[in-house]
Amino acid sequence: MNFEDLRGILQYVPQFRERIFVIALDGAVMRLPNFPSLLQDIAVLQSLSIQVVIVFGARQQIRELAAARGVTLSNDNGMGRTDQVTLDVSADAITRLTSELVADLTALELRVAVPNALAVHPAGVIEGVDLDHTGRIERVDDKALLAMLKEGIIPVLPPLGYDGRGNTLRLNSDEVAVDVAMELEAAKVIFVAERGLFDAQEMRIAQLAVGDAREMAKQKDADPSITSKLRYGAMACTEGVPRVHIVDGNQDEVLLAEVFSNEGVGTMIHADDYQQVRNARTSDIPALLSIMRQSVEDAALAPRTREQMQKRIGDFFVLELDGNAVGTVAVHTYVVDGKTKVAELACLLVRRAHKNQGHGRKLVAYAEEMARQRGCEWVFALSTQAFRFFEEKMGYEEANPDVLPESRRERYDQSGRNSRVLVKKLLPTKP
Ligand SMILES: CC(C)(COP(=O)(O)OP(=O)(O)OC[C@H]1O[C@@H](n2cnc3c(N)ncnc32)[C@H](O)[C@@H]1OP(=O)(O)O)[C@@H](O)C(=O)NCCC(=O)NCCS
Repeated sequence: MNFEDLRGILQYVPQFRERIFVIALDGAVMRLPNFPSLLQDIAVLQSLSIQVVIVFGARQQIRELAAARGVTLSNDNGMGRTDQVTLDVSADAITRLTSELVADLTALELRVAVPNALAVHPAGVIEGVDLDHTGRIERVDDKALLAMLKEGIIPVLPPLGYDGRGNTLRLNSDEVAVDVAMELEAAKVIFVAERGLFDAQEMRIAQLAVGDAREMAKQKDADPSITSKLRYGAMACTEGVPRVHIVDGNQDEVLLAEVFSNEGVGTMIHADDYQQVRNARTSDIPALLSIMRQSVEDAALAPRTREQMQKRIGDFFVLELDGNAVGTVAVHTYVVDGKTKVAELACLLVRRAHKNQGHGRKLVAYAEEMARQRGCEWVFALSTQAFRFFEEKMGYEEANPDVLPESRRERYDQSGRNSRVLVKKLLPTKP
């Protein structure tokens, strides 16, 4: 690994410090040869002051125990009916698994606890079927969980709950993960699954908007363990958990790779536009100045000071990729001939590592829309090195500097940069 990679990783650390990640492990993942390294990844997250809650499922272990005892399960995923036999097998398998997991985490010198933090009640009769010993979560004891997290203790939540009458009820672990994440206002839920999510061409699905996740969960031939993650993941995003990830537990270092890289290695379900252009804030200025430095040195951009940016901060926009500024553009408005409003599209810049991914075009289109909303009839850009980009990719035409608003023309002459002048008429957007 080089220092550039390290810098890329470390940029995420401040934004996740003291934030809560709910990590939901499939039972099958806990049988994989690389499971010990996955637990080490959890230890790394914890060491970076990320507060981790672990939830786990036990489908595979319940099936194995049922086969060993020669009994038939009424259901193995905690969503359908749980009869007495299934409850007995499930409780035994889950208790065993809890003990193994706590032992493994303790061996990594992590402090763990298995709290009784879920108030549950019987799921009842659904579509005419009495679900018997299947439970639904009524409440999450957020105070108890937050107190543990504050003390650096990892709560481990098995898919079992207890009602007010002393009954044990079987739960679905995906539901546990999402209910806990919503209650604790977690930054992420990460489902570590038996397999990743792929499209029809066997390509990894890197991102899914909530609506698409919901649609995909309805597909009839889909794997039920994945559809449950899609369904609950979409619910979590709608209820305020910013990111839900589904990663393949077979992959080495999957947790760290998913969390500490822009593109990730699994599937991320997101509620908002994960790539978004937004208004710049004062707190963005240091990051923007640092992105600009290289282009200023290359003479592609005119230098700007912190004070100049601060004064016109309302004109600047930032393209954010999963919380990090990767590009910027500014829209300065002028009045020509005392009446016509025009805009300068300035300071267009995309971080070097993110070029050629359509971000430049997205920023220009956004800036043009802003200019349109501010009542401008045309836009212009001054460029020494990106004039072809404006002409070929964005439909600008080169013009004589005389077209510039008077005050801008004066500064243009004084700068001596001899930038090309590019203009574009703004057409009203289609209703
Ligand atoms: C110009 C800039 C913003 C483009 O950003 P980007 O995110 O790479 O752009 P996109 O991904 O949307 O578009 C890439 C396309 O534009 C082309 N392109 C990018 N910069 C170009 C340039 N200077 N001249 C000609 N074409 C260029 C690429 O070859 C690519 O073409 P393709 O799609 O046919 O392969 C970026 O290169 C940059 O930051 N440049 C330095 C600063 C600068 O000159 N800013 C303009 C001052 S106003």
